[in-house]
Amino acid sequence: TYVVTDNCIRCKYMDCVEVCPVDCFYEGENMLVIHPDECIDCGVCEPECPAEAISPDTEPGLDKWLTLNAEYAAKWPNITIKRDTPADAEEFDGEEGKLEKYFS
Ligand code: SF4
Ligand code: F3S
Repeated sequence: TYVVTDNCIRCKYMDCVEVCPVDCFYEGENMLVIHPDECIDCGVCEPECPAEAISPDTEPGLDKWLTLNAEYAAKWPNITIKRDTPADAEEFDGEEGKLEKYFS
């Protein structure tokens, strides 16, 4: 599966939503997550994210993100249509430690 990681938080560009063939993104207030059981590993979303926040879970160090994606995909609503990105998205692009500061 692919997973959404830290840099999505408060960037939330949502370009990923438009390209996913199986609509497996779920929406929180400040980030999206991928449902690991629904993702078909096509990889299409990874290069579409302007924040480079999406990676395959085969990359090292992503265990906590896989757990977070699975947990919140079960709680949050499905999102299939891209809306406007937050006006201040670019201000948060690349900031460290967004999970601790802003996650919701
Ligand atoms: Fe959707 Fe493919 Fe990305 Fe998985 S890898 S979330 S199926 S676009
Ligand atoms: Fe987040 Fe990137 Fe999608 S910032 S909402 S994973 S396009």
